[in-house]
Amino acid sequence: MPKALDIRIYGDDILRRKLKEAEPKDPYIKKFLPDLIYTMYLREGVGLAANQVGVDLRIFVMDIGWTQKDAKQNPRVLINPEILEREGEQIGEEGCISLPNIFANVLRDYKIRYKYTTPDGKEVEAEAEGYEAEVIQHEYDHLEGIVFTDRLTTLAKLRVKRKLKDLELRAKDGINIAVPSDFER
Ligand code: NI
Repeated sequence: MPKALDIRIYGDDILRRKLKEAEPKDPYIKKFLPDLIYTMYLREGVGLAANQVGVDLRIFVMDIGWTQKDAKQNPRVLINPEILEREGEQIGEEGCISLPNIFANVLRDYKIRYKYTTPDGKEVEAEAEGYEAEVIQHEYDHLEGIVFTDRLTTLAKLRVKRKLKDLELRAKDGINIAVPSDFER
C-alpha cells in the first residue's frame, strides 16, 4: 500500500535546493514513486516534485487530466528531465501544494521540447504545449529550487508577499510540513 508523504511548505530549505540526479534503477526510487504518486492525488495536485515531500532527487510526477470529470488517473513519472527548447509565451494562473492558498498568473513558454528518463530507464524526448507545458515548467522549476512566486511581476509579488512571509515564519517555527487546514479551500 502506498503511503501519504508529508508536504514541505514554502520556507523549507529543500524547496530552494538544486536537486541531485536520480538513478532510475535505484531500489529506493522504485519504492518511493508509488508514494509520490499517491500523495499527488491525495493532495489534488496535477504535479508533485520530489523535494516537495523532502526528497533530494530530480524526479516529478504529473497528471494533467485527472481533475476533469470522470477522467481516469494516468500518472506520468519524469526522472532527470531537461527542457531543450522553448517557444512562445502563455500566461496562466498557478498554485502549488507547497504554497497553500496562493494563486497568481505566471508567464511561461507556450511550447517546449523536453527529455526525461522513465522509471524503466528509457530515455524519452517529447513536445508539449499549453497547459501541459505549463505544468512541466512549474515542476521542472522545483527541481532547480525555484517556486512559481519567484516568477511573478513585481506588482503580483507584492500581492502575495504577506502570505509568503507568514509561511516563512511558520517554517522558522519548525512547522515546515503542511497541516490539514492548508488543504482547505
Ligand atoms: Ni509546485
